Amino acid sequence: MVSAYGWTQRWWAPAGPLRHNDVVDSSRFSAWRPGFAYREQVLPRLVECACGSRDLHRWRRRTTDGLSGELLEIGFGSGLNLGHYGPDVSLIRAVEPSPGARRRSERRIADQSIPVEHLDLEAESLPLEDASCDGALSTFTLCTIADVERALAEVYRVVRPGGRFHFLEHGIAPDVRVQVWQRRLEPIQRRVAGGCHLTRDPVALVERAGFEIDSVEQRYARGPRPWTYFTLGIARRP
Ligand SMILES: C[S@@+](CC[C@H](N)C(=O)[O-])C[C@H]1O[C@@H](n2cnc3c(N)ncnc32)[C@H](O)[C@@H]1O
Repeated sequence: MVSAYGWTQRWWAPAGPLRHNDVVDSSRFSAWRPGFAYREQVLPRLVECACGSRDLHRWRRRTTDGLSGELLEIGFGSGLNLGHYGPDVSLIRAVEPSPGARRRSERRIADQSIPVEHLDLEAESLPLEDASCDGALSTFTLCTIADVERALAEVYRVVRPGGRFHFLEHGIAPDVRVQVWQRRLEPIQRRVAGGCHLTRDPVALVERAGFEIDSVEQRYARGPRPWTYFTLGIARRP
């Protein structure tokens, strides 16, 4: 199965998607490839802008609350959650396949004290031992990962029993009229927003992966409704 990120790489870049044990060399992302500028320079900026509002930072703070120890963060992006982790977090293992987003995270990583280890792969294939993380975080990423079931199975595998998975995601709205628009807009959204879906149900996905849900808060945040039905979930590996 090729992920959305892998698909765009295959489409834009003949080198194909990243695989386990791949060495990432700069020629793979060379700037002459069509689409490079959008995918690696414009899109990470757009995402940072769309996901970096003050309102969203309040949601992020609540989502990171209570996490501790060595964590996995899937879809690390430009590191917008970094300022919110508490003092009990000792290490962040970051999974972010976009070199453009990783570059944008460098300053935030340097400006804070928690060590960040980039895993250089995709969430569908984590180079980590079973039960090697105390917890995991995903913010606005379950919408984008192409094989999200496989990615969540990997998150489940690497989180220790009793460990927590916190997630903040947008997804399918409860109102039929909004759902109609979400279905209409999803094809264009996927094209322009790096594979982002509007109609996924994050709670159902997390439960299907085997996690137990401790708490869920769901409501519309500020902004146009097809994009802003948010879920803040706290789940636990039994
Ligand atoms: C909408 S952005 C959110 C970024 C960040 N989590 C935030 O809250 O600002 C989704 C991120 O997921 C990343 N992503 C896409 N496919 C992925 C995959 N298969 N595994 C891990 N991350 C992926 C993208 O590169 C992008 O940075």
